[in-house]
Amino acid sequence: MNSDLAQHRLGIMGGTFDPIHKGHIMIAEYATKAFNLERVLFIPTGRPPHKREIRLAGGEERLQMCRLAVKGHPDFVVDDREVRRQGTTYTVDTMQELHKAYGPGWQFYFIIGTDTLQVIDSWRCFPQVAKMTEFIAIYRPGDEREELTRCAQRLERQYGARIHFGAYEGPDISSTQVRRRVASGGAVDEWVPDAVDCYIRTHQLYKETEDGNRTMDFDAWTARLKAILSPQRFDHTLRTRDMAVELAKRYGVDADKAQAAALLHDCAKEMERAQMLDVIGKAGMQVSGETLEFCRRNGCYGILHGPAGAAAAKIDFGVTDPEILSAIAWHTLGQPEMGMLDKVIYTADILEEGRQWPGIEEVRAAIQKDLDEGLRLCVGRGMEYLIQTNRPIHPSALALWNELNFTNH
Ligand SMILES: [Fe+2]
Ligand SMILES: [Fe+2]
Repeated sequence: MNSDLAQHRLGIMGGTFDPIHKGHIMIAEYATKAFNLERVLFIPTGRPPHKREIRLAGGEERLQMCRLAVKGHPDFVVDDREVRRQGTTYTVDTMQELHKAYGPGWQFYFIIGTDTLQVIDSWRCFPQVAKMTEFIAIYRPGDEREELTRCAQRLERQYGARIHFGAYEGPDISSTQVRRRVASGGAVDEWVPDAVDCYIRTHQLYKETEDGNRTMDFDAWTARLKAILSPQRFDHTLRTRDMAVELAKRYGVDADKAQAAALLHDCAKEMERAQMLDVIGKAGMQVSGETLEFCRRNGCYGILHGPAGAAAAKIDFGVTDPEILSAIAWHTLGQPEMGMLDKVIYTADILEEGRQWPGIEEVRAAIQKDLDEGLRLCVGRGMEYLIQTNRPIHPSALALWNELNFTNH
């Protein structure tokens, strides 16, 4: 088609869109502005079904998520032709159909990533495709731009391909990253539009299929913790996990739950005050007025990292188990009537291998024989420390201390 005669410019976004995410929408918005596009078509590919370890979305589901994502963008249109087409779908067929449907008044701009650009001449009938559409290649972070320019020049020479580069600088999001986060039980609302987020949850997409309950992906959690915590805190977290799992096995507590709670116990420790209060609110959890007043009066908002950690465990890591959430929430202050898992996490945090304080060896020995006695000694050590460093004692910690020492069992 002769682009001089074309009055209208049509952008084409192809891909599996499994799922569509905010990056796709932002790239389409960018291309619309930068290249004066009148309309952008989102064309999810058809895809031969094959077995995977997580449940991928079907064609209808991918179409539906695209429709939800483009709501509010009158110039973005979802095109279902490739999902509907039987058998393997090829871009060359799609382009021919589009040409018939739109006629000579339209010039097409196929929007691709620069990774695709480098292999694009392996597309079926690429010489024909190159005659039917121009390309907008969107730079990705870390691209060797000179090399890409050479690649574009070669395609131009060999096939007459017309390639433009787009310097979109938005967040780098991938569908794989979204699927992995969902599979490990985390939240993806920062990466996908709200309506898509809701759709993924309602339709239980991207969950592990083997065992519906096994959404605690400790490897994925550990990787995330490594990214958000300081190296020292991360190492402390791993040592707390080791100690917690050992104690759990010794005292007949669920080792998976101990591992989960220990890994996440300090996940909010490095958050700012506002961030902690925010995540607690978002999770629909509450901190007592007494505790908030205690923090305010003594300027010690740090103790909120317990409840904030439980809130983040719920929202960011998808933990729903009340025992795990309780153990995280109370690991700093402690409270009367703690459960077995609460006790394991509280003590593992204080006794893990990297800790050193006078008398720790005796307490480590004691806890191997009696969890409650170990707990009592740990709480006592905490009290001593607060007194020595002239810090206030929270009523809940005091109540635990009294329960452990002065209640007749
Ligand atoms: Fe902590
Ligand atoms: Fe800790």
